[in-house]
Amino acid sequence: MKILVTGGAGFIGSHLSEKYVEEGHTVLCLDNLMNGNLVNIRHLLNKRNFKLIIGDVRDIDLLEKLMRGVDVVLHLAAQIHVDRSIIEPKLTYEINVLGTQNVLEVSRMYDVKRVVFTSSSEVYGSAKYVPMDEKHPLDAPHPYGASKIAADRMCHAYAKTYGMDVVIVRPFNIFGPKQKDSGYGGAISIFVKRVLRGTPPIIYGDGKQSRDYTYIKDAVRAFDSVVKYEGEIEGPINFGTGKDIEIEKLARLIIKLCGKEGEIEPVHVEPRPSEVRRLVADYSKAKRLFGWEPKYRLEEGLMEFIDWYRNYKSEEWSKPA
Ligand SMILES: NC(=O)c1ccc[n+]([C@@H]2O[C@H](COP(=O)([O-])OP(=O)(O)OC[C@H]3O[C@@H](n4cnc5c(N)ncnc54)[C@H](O)[C@@H]3O)[C@@H](O)[C@H]2O)c1
Repeated sequence: MKILVTGGAGFIGSHLSEKYVEEGHTVLCLDNLMNGNLVNIRHLLNKRNFKLIIGDVRDIDLLEKLMRGVDVVLHLAAQIHVDRSIIEPKLTYEINVLGTQNVLEVSRMYDVKRVVFTSSSEVYGSAKYVPMDEKHPLDAPHPYGASKIAADRMCHAYAKTYGMDVVIVRPFNIFGPKQKDSGYGGAISIFVKRVLRGTPPIIYGDGKQSRDYTYIKDAVRAFDSVVKYEGEIEGPINFGTGKDIEIEKLARLIIKLCGKEGEIEPVHVEPRPSEVRRLVADYSKAKRLFGWEPKYRLEEGLMEFIDWYRNYKSEEWSKPA
């Protein structure tokens, strides 16, 4: 297969690029490096079946040049951060909505066999019931979630109107190696970095907000089930574990697993605007369709990640390639 991975130098995209390069597929990795890191894909750069294109999904001419002969598009490129979407809603809209529109349009032009769009659990807003299935109302309170709703619904419209095979996946939170540990990164990678350096994790608000965390290896299997599923896939699909953890408890668990209990206490600061209170996945549709289930318990994933973080020369990882 020829696979275009947008956002392929980012956290999830780099794991997917690696998987498909190892399987012998041809991988085109498109990334503008806004939040990605070349180090994530450096080991792939000398592979014959891997090509990095530093470019932007807002550039439709570039997409047209790349799309010929592509079988599958894994569309992950996005402005992913809620806080940044509040500061820069227009940028978020342009990348997440218009960028997705470009990907859909050019995929239609070139008869791409399957487009997999990475939506997000953030489209739902705070849980009105748990676990949250795909029929949960879409009630995102922030521009990031709203942009994902718009793109998600545009994917639905392209599938219905043009008969395209567009699969919408709605992952809950994902964590693991290569997730950015600073700035616009993930809470777990930022907490682990801080705790291992002997600094306290910073919690916004009371810490009772909760998230459902899937380990990256389980997430990659979930994406792969979608890519390789031979039947038609109707409607969006959640990936998650069905269990949430409050952020305060998560911070304390990380302190314990890093062996810093009694030495470090989380610090609370002002709550973030528009932060969603609770997200818990009902992943029964993914289980029914693909037999997919998460294999990692949260602690197992955290231990593996902490080991990676400790052993990996994180300084080398953090500096530009
Ligand atoms: N990580 C999670 O917990 C999570 C959960 C749900 C959904 N998602 C979605 O999964 C996707 C990947 O997320 P991630 O955590 O790997 O984030 P990430 O920021 O590591 O990856 C996104 C990549 O897209 C690139 N990018 C941004 N704008 C671009 C543009 N205009 N053109 C080309 N490339 C661009 C970034 O440089 C980055 O490498 C995103 O769409 C995100 O919304 C992530």
